[in-house]
Amino acid sequence: MKIAVCSTQAHDRRFLTEANVGAGHELTFFDSHLNEETRHIVAGFPAVCVFVNDTLNATVLGSLAEQGTRLIALRCAGFNNVDVAAASELGLRVVRVPAYSPHSVAEHSVALMMGLNRRLPRAYNRVRDGNFSLDGLLGFELRGKTVGIIGTGRIGIALAEILRGFGCRLIAYDPFPNAECKALGVDYVSLAELYAASDIISLHAPLSQATLHLIDAAALAQMKDGVMLINTSRGAVIDTAAVIDGMKSGKVGYLGLDVYEQEGDLFFQDLSNQVIQDDMFERLLTFPNVLITGHQGFFTHEALSSIAQTTLQNISLFEQSGQCQNEVTTELLR
Ligand code: NAI
Repeated sequence: MKIAVCSTQAHDRRFLTEANVGAGHELTFFDSHLNEETRHIVAGFPAVCVFVNDTLNATVLGSLAEQGTRLIALRCAGFNNVDVAAASELGLRVVRVPAYSPHSVAEHSVALMMGLNRRLPRAYNRVRDGNFSLDGLLGFELRGKTVGIIGTGRIGIALAEILRGFGCRLIAYDPFPNAECKALGVDYVSLAELYAASDIISLHAPLSQATLHLIDAAALAQMKDGVMLINTSRGAVIDTAAVIDGMKSGKVGYLGLDVYEQEGDLFFQDLSNQVIQDDMFERLLTFPNVLITGHQGFFTHEALSSIAQTTLQNISLFEQSGQCQNEVTTELLR
């Protein structure tokens, strides 16, 4: 099948090309994001493969349908950037990679926790500078601390498995509690209870109407002073302005982010020679107790290989049978 691959990075080219050996699709790589300005570059491609910062709103989807596209293949799990209802009305099928390596993201969440807790960026820079002072590097043991997990799907479960090994007390909030997490010793509680009891809160819910700015001023007010917040889900689950206020007041003691609400203008590109125009992002970088990575939770050999294989399998099945596995439908929005 002719596939337009949008927002291509070097690793997409590598892993998709490797996975395509045997699958035999015709891959055309585009560096640009897909959005209202660029929608015409994919004209005539029956399949369009997109990533997290491509914008598939009703306007873009309308153009795609007119231009002959029949399948949108997300090479990621989250689908908040696709107007699923509009796609359905237009007869466009949408598939995704629901699970590649939840462990990659869960492990990265723990990396953020430990990096913040043991002040690793500061320690690294100090030692390189010949400064072996320990002032300002004091950490805490994870053992015995209460970690609140919001969203106990695949990544939340993988995180619970890891943190159980650290000896943490695990509590969680999810509208759909699952038996696997309970078996790991996770106690499901209300959001209010989770906010009040957690030393660390880690976000693993999808972005939806229900989770948009879930962590706002009202939520922060219910949390322990000095709480550690970790977000590897989607940036807009956090109200960044409110969290900045929380950092300034000391309510938030540590902030670890792999995602950011306006990341589409920043992440996945080298802007080191440019002036960053996003003042909120720049403000975040001024805090000593903030650790930000540029949406790399998924970025492991295992995950990339799995993403590429599942993406092409999704497309092959559609091409051969018109059937979709891993389909994103309006059912999933509930
Ligand atoms: P999943 O679909 O397996 O689990 C999501 C869980 O969130 C489900 O148990 C669901 O019931 C729960 N949930 C839904 N609404 C909720 C709410 N209002 N409050 C609390 N929980 C709620 O998804 P998975 O694979 O665990 O991924 C979670 C999110 O992580 C994805 O939606 C995506 O946004 C993000 N992600 C980030 C990556 C990164 O590189 N940083 C890579 C992959 C995913």
